[in-house]
Amino acid sequence: MIIAIDGPAGSGKSTVAKLVAKKLNYRYIDTGAMYRSVAWVAQKNGLNLADEIAMAKIAENLKIEFIPNANGQTVLVDGENATTDLKNEVVGKGAATVAAQESVRELLVARQRQIGETGNVVMDGRDIGTVVFPQSDKKFFFVADAEERGRRRYEELKSKNPELDLKIIIEEIRQRDYEDCNRKISPLVKAEDALEVDTTRLSIEEVTDQVLKNINNPT
Ligand code: C5P
Repeated sequence: MIIAIDGPAGSGKSTVAKLVAKKLNYRYIDTGAMYRSVAWVAQKNGLNLADEIAMAKIAENLKIEFIPNANGQTVLVDGENATTDLKNEVVGKGAATVAAQESVRELLVARQRQIGETGNVVMDGRDIGTVVFPQSDKKFFFVADAEERGRRRYEELKSKNPELDLKIIIEEIRQRDYEDCNRKISPLVKAEDALEVDTTRLSIEEVTDQVLKNINNPT
C-alpha cells in the first residue's frame, strides 16, 4: 500500500503524513527533504544552484537516511544530522530551484520509486500522486489559505529565529507556490483521483482522522 499526500508548503502534509504512518505502522518518506538535501549540500559547498550538472551529481551521490524517532524523524545526509538545517527557509527556496531541474527530478523520483516498491509507505511531496506513484492506492491533496500556511510556518520557526517577520514568511510561501505551480516539469497539481482536503480551519487531529477514515472506509 502506498499513500500519497501532495500539496503546497505549509498545508500540513508532513505533520499529518507522519501521524498517519505512525498509526498504520508504515514508513514515512518526506520527499521534500530529498530536494532540500540537494540544496543544502550545494549551499554548504558554495555551489551555484542553477548549475544543473553539479546539482545532478549531488542528487546521484547523496546518501539520505530517514530514521524514525519520538518527534517524527531524523534526516541524515551523508551521515550528518541535517534535520534542523533542512527546515530553514533558505534551504526550502534552494530546494524549489533544484526541483525544477529535469535530471535532479529523474534521479530523486527513481529513488522514491525504489523506496515505494518495498510497500507500506506514506509519501508526501508535490508530485507523488501524479508522477512518482500515479497508481498509488490512496491519494490526498491538501490545500490551505496562504495566510494560514504562513502563520503555521512562522509558529514552527520563530522559536529558533525571533526576528522572523510573518509578512515576509507569507510572501515567501506565495513565491514558492508560484514556482512549484508554474515550473515546466512536474508542476504542483492535484491528481484527478486525489481527495482534496482543505486544512485551513481544521486541527492536525481532524485532518489525520479524515485521512485515516478515508483509508479505512473509502466512499
Ligand atoms: O515540502 P517541502 O517544503 O519540504 O519541499 C521543498 C521544495 O521541494 C518544494 O517547494 C518543491 O519545490 C520541491 N519538491 C518537489 N517535489 C516533491 C517534494 C518537494 O518539487 N515531491
